[in-house]
Amino acid sequence: MRTTVGIIGAGPAGLLLARLLHNAGIDSVVLESRDRAYVERRQRAGILEQGTVDVLREAGAAERMDHEGLRHDGIELRFDRRRHRVDFPALTGGRSVMVYAQTEVCKDLIALQLKSGGPLLFETEALAVEGADTDRPRVRFRQRGEGGEGGAEGVLECDYVVGCDGFWGVARSAVPDGRTFERTYPFSWLGILADVAPSHDELVYARHDRGFALLSMRSPSVSRLYLQVPADTDADSWSDEQIWDELERRFETDDDWTLRRGPITQKSVTPMRSYVHEPMRHGRLFLAGDAAHIVPPTGAKGLNLAVGDVVTFARALAHRTATGSDDLLDAYSATCLRRVWQAERFSYDMTTLLHTAPDATPFEDRLQLARLDRIASSRAAETDLAEAYTGFPIG
Ligand code: APR
Ligand code: PHB
Repeated sequence: MRTTVGIIGAGPAGLLLARLLHNAGIDSVVLESRDRAYVERRQRAGILEQGTVDVLREAGAAERMDHEGLRHDGIELRFDRRRHRVDFPALTGGRSVMVYAQTEVCKDLIALQLKSGGPLLFETEALAVEGADTDRPRVRFRQRGEGGEGGAEGVLECDYVVGCDGFWGVARSAVPDGRTFERTYPFSWLGILADVAPSHDELVYARHDRGFALLSMRSPSVSRLYLQVPADTDADSWSDEQIWDELERRFETDDDWTLRRGPITQKSVTPMRSYVHEPMRHGRLFLAGDAAHIVPPTGAKGLNLAVGDVVTFARALAHRTATGSDDLLDAYSATCLRRVWQAERFSYDMTTLLHTAPDATPFEDRLQLARLDRIASSRAAETDLAEAYTGFPIG
């Protein structure tokens, strides 16, 4: 098998890249180790920055998002039983975000890819990237056989390989002499999906002495909620009633706001990690999305960073095709990393602003409240948050 761009992984990064390349007249093959149902059901964040929305529209992948996505013009910060709304358009010259789940972005991109006949091979696992520093990099892969076992091995010969294979993928290991920067956190998120209308029309980020809580949503009738829990928590150790009781406590305010309860349909624990691998390129192998960097979910930046990476790669390759110049491809890693580090900084700030660390001193607790009070009372501090939340420019 031979193609111009071999793409490993059909998460948001790999799927959008295939679409962008298709639109630019560049052929690609996507290899995905899991099956289609798995990719379409995996629950992740659901906040699209303004720039991500623009990219999906330009790519012709926004039809359903424009019907079903929920435009949000702000978020609420809750602390000390107080409520403070951050008004995005007023602070950023009209920017907003879109609530549209990552599962739906993936479903839309998969449907488009299959419709345009672009090769998207599920149950096909990349085993290794070879020859990244030659003109003909290759991806060795294995296709799952009938019944899930065995299967045929093959080689995909490419001009370029893009590793969009997430944090646990194989592509990163083919970038030698890389440097990694990492931080883990002593807590996780217990996330639930519930069949109940969201209790607020915008997201609520709550800081409480008992721990952080987040109210989000998937649709006007499905709520997504999170609780900060200790890092090694088993989701099943929390009963549904305990979860609702704890959410109620952490969202408590001095006014008459109430939390609506409903049947919980899914429960899972998400670990928190900050991670960056530098550089994001070796020869003709490029890393994009979670394969190169992870952010804790507090800033909702994971998917948006992946989009920035693949847009940067697609532009650079189209530039090379049009002009013969490698300049933009050579700048890929530095261009992406500048934006990545801004998102790392913001995600870290949001995480430490809102979570209670198990070893936090009373002094640090007070500082946290002072930081929140500053955001609620200074337009400059609030603007900084609003600009970062609605997104940094791509490229
Ligand atoms: N071969 C083929 N596919 C692989 C391999 C492999 N060896 N290893 C992993 N994959 C696939 C995974 O099954 C997964 O579908 O690569 C895909 C990676 O997808 P994501 O983990 O979603 O990563 P990415 O596309 O970078 O997503 C970026 O989107 O939803 C957000 O928060 C999420 O931060 C994440 C962001
Ligand atoms: C979500 O809806 O899953 C979500 C929203 C905002 C975040 C993280 C997750 O910061």
